[in-house]
Amino acid sequence: MSQKKTILVTGGAGYIGRCTAYVLAQNGYQPVLIDNFSTGRRAMVGELTCFDLDLTDRKSTLEAFRKSQDVVGVIHLAAKALVGESVEKPYEYLRNNFLSTLNVAEAAAMSGVCVLHSSSCAVYGVPEKLPILETTPRSPVSPYGAAKAMAEDVLAQFVRHKGLRALNLRYFNPAGSMGNGQYGELHEPETHLIPNVVGAFLGGKPIRVFGSDFPTPDGTCVRDYIHIEDLVGAHLVALEKLLAPGSLKVESLNIGSGKGVSVKEVLEAASSVLGGKVPHEMAPRRAGDPAELVADIAQAKAILGWEPKKSLNDMIRDHHQWVTGRAKKLL
Ligand SMILES: NC(=O)c1ccc[n+]([C@@H]2O[C@H](COP(=O)([O-])OP(=O)(O)OC[C@H]3O[C@@H](n4cnc5c(N)ncnc54)[C@H](O)[C@@H]3O)[C@@H](O)[C@H]2O)c1
Repeated sequence: MSQKKTILVTGGAGYIGRCTAYVLAQNGYQPVLIDNFSTGRRAMVGELTCFDLDLTDRKSTLEAFRKSQDVVGVIHLAAKALVGESVEKPYEYLRNNFLSTLNVAEAAAMSGVCVLHSSSCAVYGVPEKLPILETTPRSPVSPYGAAKAMAEDVLAQFVRHKGLRALNLRYFNPAGSMGNGQYGELHEPETHLIPNVVGAFLGGKPIRVFGSDFPTPDGTCVRDYIHIEDLVGAHLVALEKLLAPGSLKVESLNIGSGKGVSVKEVLEAASSVLGGKVPHEMAPRRAGDPAELVADIAQAKAILGWEPKKSLNDMIRDHHQWVTGRAKKLL
């Protein structure tokens, strides 16, 4: 019989889920994936056990939890995760992301296991003050952000009424790859800046820079990027805290680098790391894009004893390594 603690990783065939499972396995846990492969890739499962199921189905979700031996926690990453698409398809996003979380919360509460939930800075919408604190009022703009806020509320109800132990990690902008380029980001369509910048450098379409007249130092949007290794590292310490009952007194933590970087700065960093120009063209602002979104990560640092270590250059270099290596075989 296995002595390892089992962690269910929902959305484990996706970008962040598979990177998380890789690190869990390296740290003595037994990751077991749950995925419906709507955006995740079967080739990413590898040697791991995976339940092929849709978490919006209550019966099969409860059954997967019942069948999992030695399960002590769930890292709930499964979601539809494209902000722009959510505006086109609000019903699909609200249904999928809300129902999945409702079923995961119920199954976790019934099994007596804790939940680490992938939330997002999208719950804040367009905040009035920067940097963004966890106490900044939630005011999501997109259906994606609204569904994340609803998922947080679902978990809070199970915490209050069913004794569930849960924590929301509100990610800012994860990027880069892990395990020497073995696990990385491969979305279709890709909407994130760093993969698209690397793609443009490698001969893809020139990247469009939306807006050069924002009230930021160089006029382009400022965001907070965090290396996937740092993001996943935060999960590991958060999980250990959750597994020790009573040691966590907060419901949500921001997980970012705490530093703002503009689109222009990303382009410049990419040119220097990759050794060439990144083709790009200026375009008008997109409706609803805030000028600046930067996390205050003081709480995560203090509570988790965690600190991001990797740089923007590492994110670009590591994404390039993945996309020119293993990812090519998956396309
Ligand atoms: N990547 C980012 O920039 C970012 C930022 C903030 C928050 N997040 C959150 O992190 C999580 C992971 O994001 P990602 O970038 O790895 O996305 P991804 O699309 O690569 O992974 C999501 C996974 O969830 C699975 N899934 C979706 N609905 C499901 C369902 N009903 N049942 C079972 N499986 C289902 C998909 O097949 C996929 O494997 C998501 O919850 C996302 O909202 C991501």
